[in-house]
Parts: sequence; structure tokens; C-alpha cells
Amino acid sequence: EKGGYDYFMLKEIAEQPKAVADTLLGRIDPSGSLTLDEVRISPSELREIDKVVIVACGTAFHAGLIAKYAIEHWTRIPCEVELASEFRYRDPILDGRSLVIAISQSGETMDTLMALRHAREQGSKVLAICNTNGSTIPRESDAVLYTHAGPEVAVASTKAFLTQLVACYLVALYLGQVRGTKWGDEIQAVIKDLSRISEEVERVLETMEPVRALARTLAAKNTVLFLGRHVGYPVALEGALKLKELAYMHAEGFAAGELKHGPIALIEEDVPVVVVVPSPRGRSVIHDKIVSNIQEIRARGARTIVIAEEGDETVVPYADHLIRIPATPTLLQPLVATVPLQVFACELATARGNEVDQPRNLAKSVTVE
Ligand code: F6R
Repeated sequence: EKGGYDYFMLKEIAEQPKAVADTLLGRIDPSGSLTLDEVRISPSELREIDKVVIVACGTAFHAGLIAKYAIEHWTRIPCEVELASEFRYRDPILDGRSLVIAISQSGETMDTLMALRHAREQGSKVLAICNTNGSTIPRESDAVLYTHAGPEVAVASTKAFLTQLVACYLVALYLGQVRGTKWGDEIQAVIKDLSRISEEVERVLETMEPVRALARTLAAKNTVLFLGRHVGYPVALEGALKLKELAYMHAEGFAAGELKHGPIALIEEDVPVVVVVPSPRGRSVIHDKIVSNIQEIRARGARTIVIAEEGDETVVPYADHLIRIPATPTLLQPLVATVPLQVFACELATARGNEVDQPRNLAKSVTVE
């Protein structure tokens, strides 16, 4: 049932192009507009929303962090993202005009469930983004947008994460479409790019051998750091989480702009630092700032592992290892940038002799608070 792969995780990483395509299927009509019939919150209700609050745990929380950039950019609705376990106990400000989005692969995560129950008690509408049909979280929500990743068996989430991102983009674009936004043309263009993105994910998967080889050389390291900015920041957090879970290594993700506010003190000779570089097109200021960060850490001895768009030559002089990803619109980059980090963590864990599908101390679905 592992379909010829040694681990479910490898199989699930390989299934990502299909998972992404399946999650988009039937949701983009030929005219290029979105039809999310399942979202049974009416367009007039969606037009009344004055705040979006996303609650989730772990990897799903990282998807939520990325969703915030998309939602705020395309809809101009303020969006907060909070760990479900923190949300409920701080008496959050919610009312009938708040849309709460609960993201969960399993649909059974107790923290997320308790957060959504609290939101509904405050009169907020809850939209679930979930991978498991008929599970508790969608059953208790006002509406659900299912991700179509298929069953995810490995404890570490991979294909579910990519499909959560797709669902989040769909919700953001749909809110933009329903409410009208000055980004109408950009939304049209992004919908087109999104409909082709599974091919880009496939292309990334075809180039992963050097990433695996690199991971094997790092098996004896104690620490790996991850840096990103804008949507690359949650990608860095996700890369670090995968490595903690699977390789049991000290792995931390930082916002690159925070480096000089503390984390740069961690940089020493030969510490591997993975840097997610945004597209040089679009928000080029951020790109240039990251390139200076790479120079700074390299000058202090870091071994730089740079994930950058094809054709971005500015990073070449400062990259000890360069991992190429296809060019995508800035906000969609996490769909391609996360894949090498999954492969990296999986291979490092294997090289350290760890059980990839069943990491120690972890359960696939956390049904206690
Ligand atoms: C990470 C991982 C966990 C889950 C988290 C939420 O690889 O698997 O961090 O993402 O426990 O689980 P769901 O999405 O089922 O609510």
C-alpha cells in the first residue's frame, strides 16, 4: 500500500501534484471565476465580514500564516492567525461579522475544535478547511471547504499542507471575487497560475536528488536554521517543524528581518542555514533584503542553503548550496518552496536512522487538549 515507496511520507510527497490538482478540480470555472458552492455562507453574509480569524495547530497553523498574506492582500479584510490552543483562553474579540476559519487535516484536533466551538458561541461564522470527510470539525462548522489530498498516513503532514494552502488561496480569491477588490486583474491572473501550479510542483519533485544528497551530508549536525520573509517566513517555520519532528534536531525558523534582533548570535562556523528567497520580480525590496541577509550570515561562517527562483542569479555568489524552484507569483511561492524542505527533512531523518512515518512521541491526530 506504500505504492513502491519505502515510507508513506515519500509516497505522500510524490502525490502532491495530484493532491493540489484534485483540490482545485471543479472550483475554477472555464471563465476563470471561482465556484465554491460548498461554502454555504452566502455572498451577502461574506460581504458583511469585517474580520477573518484563522485558528489551527502545527502545520495547519503555518498554512494559516500564509493565508493571512493572501487574504489581506486580495480582500483588504484584516486577518489574524492564532494557534488554536492559545485562542480560546484569551477571550478573543469576536462577533457575528467575524469569519473564523479552522484549518485541520484530521478534523479531530481537540484544540482546533474547542476554538471553533468558542467562536460559534460568540455568534461568528466558522468555515472549516479539512481533509477528512464527515469528521468532527466540519460537522460542527457552518461550512466546509474540503481539501482533496486523499488519506494522509505519515504522521508528518505534507500533501495535506499543500492542499490547505490551495484551499486558503481559493477562499482568499473567492472573498476578493465576492466583495470586489481593486486587485481584480491580479486575481484573474493568479487564478490562472493556480490552475497550472500542480505542474510546477511536479517539476520541483523531479529535481530533488541533490537535496537528498545534501541532507545526507548533514546527518551529524545538531542544528539547522531556516530564514524567510513575507510568505517565506511561514515556509521557514514549516521547514523547521518538519526537521524537528522527523530528524529530532534543533531546528528553528526565523523571519529574516529579525536576524539582527537576536538570532544572528546563533550563527557560527558551518551551521547550516536554509534561506527561502522570494521572487526578484514583484516585491523586489524584500528580495534584496534577503540577499543581504545571506551575505551577513555567510560572512559569519554559516553554510548557506539557498532556495531561489530559477533565473535569480543574484544569490549565486552567496549560496553554498542552491536549490532552484520555478517562478511563481509571490503569494503562491510556498506551494513550490515547501517541497524541498519536506524532502530534506525526510532524507535527513532516514540518514539518522529514524522512523519516518512514525516519529517518536507524536500521534497523527491529537484528540486531547
Ligand atoms: C506536522 C503535523 C502536526 C499537525 C497538527 C494539526 O507535520 O502533522 O503539526 O499539522 O497536529 O493537525 P490537524 O491538521 O489534523 O488539525
